[in-house]
Amino acid sequence: MCGIVGAVARRNVVPILIDGLKRLEYRGYDSAGIAIINGGLKRVRSIGRVAQLEALSHSENVSGHLGIAHTRWATHGVPSVANAHPHQSRDTIAVVHNGIIENHEELRVALQQQGYLFESQTDTEVIAHLVHSHYSTHHDLARATREAVQRLQGAYAIAVVCADEPHRLLAARLGSPLLVGIGEGEYFLASDASALISVTHKMLYLEEGDVADITLNGYAITDAAGKPATRAFHISELSSETAELGPYAHYMQKEIAEQPRAIADTVEKILDIGFMPELFGADAVNVLRDVDSVTVLACGTSYHAGLVARYWIEQIARIPCVTEVASEYRYRESVPNPRTLVVTISQSGETADTLAALKHAKAQGHHHSLAICNVAESAIIRQSSLSFLTRAGIEIGVASTKAFTTQLVALFALAATLARVRGVLSADDDARYLEALRRLPNKVQHVLNLEPQLMVWAERFAQKDHALFLGRGVHYPIALEGSLKLKEISYIHAEAYPAGELKHGPLALVDAGMPVVAVAPNDALLEKLKSNLQEVKARGGELYVLADNDSRFSAEEGIHVIRMPDHEGILSPVMHVVPLQLLAYHTACKRGNDVDKPRNLAKSVTVE
Ligand code: M6R
Repeated sequence: MCGIVGAVARRNVVPILIDGLKRLEYRGYDSAGIAIINGGLKRVRSIGRVAQLEALSHSENVSGHLGIAHTRWATHGVPSVANAHPHQSRDTIAVVHNGIIENHEELRVALQQQGYLFESQTDTEVIAHLVHSHYSTHHDLARATREAVQRLQGAYAIAVVCADEPHRLLAARLGSPLLVGIGEGEYFLASDASALISVTHKMLYLEEGDVADITLNGYAITDAAGKPATRAFHISELSSETAELGPYAHYMQKEIAEQPRAIADTVEKILDIGFMPELFGADAVNVLRDVDSVTVLACGTSYHAGLVARYWIEQIARIPCVTEVASEYRYRESVPNPRTLVVTISQSGETADTLAALKHAKAQGHHHSLAICNVAESAIIRQSSLSFLTRAGIEIGVASTKAFTTQLVALFALAATLARVRGVLSADDDARYLEALRRLPNKVQHVLNLEPQLMVWAERFAQKDHALFLGRGVHYPIALEGSLKLKEISYIHAEAYPAGELKHGPLALVDAGMPVVAVAPNDALLEKLKSNLQEVKARGGELYVLADNDSRFSAEEGIHVIRMPDHEGILSPVMHVVPLQLLAYHTACKRGNDVDKPRNLAKSVTVE
């Protein structure tokens, strides 16, 4: 999604800005741009890849000591050069922006009445003109930026430069992340720490409402009330290495294959100390003891992990758990309970809806918050009192895979830890669950060996326009995740249902052209599921069944069966999602889609 980089230095900053944008590329974008102050304001923008912007900057000999740059993921206005950032006002002010300005229409009208002409369809262009209108009265960029942001409603992280102040970089944020990088006599700005790691590891995060005035001599921060503020810096532990594709055709393929390693790394710390509260932070002992219910908030694939967690937490820890889509929870009047543990799940830790849901939960009086996240230096970790860092490693493919399975591991550990703290985990179960986790990476490796069979299924799915996914119990969220994977990268319309719901509506869709995938482990609901599948077969539907060895499913006309390797029942959701990832991946490949960057989607969804 949108990314910001800025720099003020005694050297040419263009290579720094381009390198920063490249490091943010995996988040997804449709256009990019750069503005440099060097005897005036010079702007270069292009749709497509950062490499195109780089080539354009070379050919136009753009260089200078102060600049801002941006990758845009379209929200207001189509992807086009005119809508790409930076946006500028009267060849003087240039602005890049992440977030959404909610009152942009009324500001636009007011600015038009002042004589400002608009060249784009974006909400961002109002910020450029707004800063300019304040700047033109007193010629102080820091003051103009502070005054301008006072008039913005919505979410923003912005960087501002001015042709008349060639060594000054302004930054402001509310609701969208932004950090200052501190170099040797040079300063940087970015929306994500990874953009800056080739130039500095010393960084400070701006807080809500902060404005930073950055020059070659240092930086000064004012808080939301306009008072001088100090923000502690920290040394980033991110590595400057970018993920290599190696022998794989796509990052998604690589990330699916990496799951045994990612799970083993995540499981390691659990095996080290067992199901102990310390897994979730120093204060977890006191918090988990006080908790009497759990609310899980997340989006997309992370939400599906939360749905699985609900089954585990209620079954193992015996406390009520609800899982809710973050974008809905944030606007809902729920009933607060101060003893509820609010668990947010996010691969990136920067998803705007999940962050807003966490903020909303806190505002409602929920003080116990736990983040399960894959990115150490992310907003969600910083804003939660407890955390568990999954060790999936950087995930580049838009379709989340290894982040999901490692989230499941973390959530399983949470369920067992809550059970232990509450005194409802028997010694036998404690040992059995740890053993199941220890064996899990190896079991997942066996599932990966099913890939050739899934490629055969994918051949048939690639010809279809629709698909149904069915599961029961804890495997219903796995069916949901399988259908999300298929639709987001193959663009095949897919839906998932708890199999018992079939006869209440979706059965009407079933005919010979409808492939129906059934997640069918040998659990307590197997016989129920088999009856549901008979309903499909009787209507001529084509069944694709992921069955356990002892499930007594046999392939016959209209029924395709893949047998899962033996596994520990309790962790079977982690096993069963892997073939569904492979099915989606190979189906998308056969349809010739851009698997790692599916149309219209971004890796990190930092706008509402
Ligand atoms: O970074 P997050 O886990 O918070 O992201 C949430 C969703 O945007 C994400 O899981 C999305 O659904 C993926 N593209 C699914 O593959």
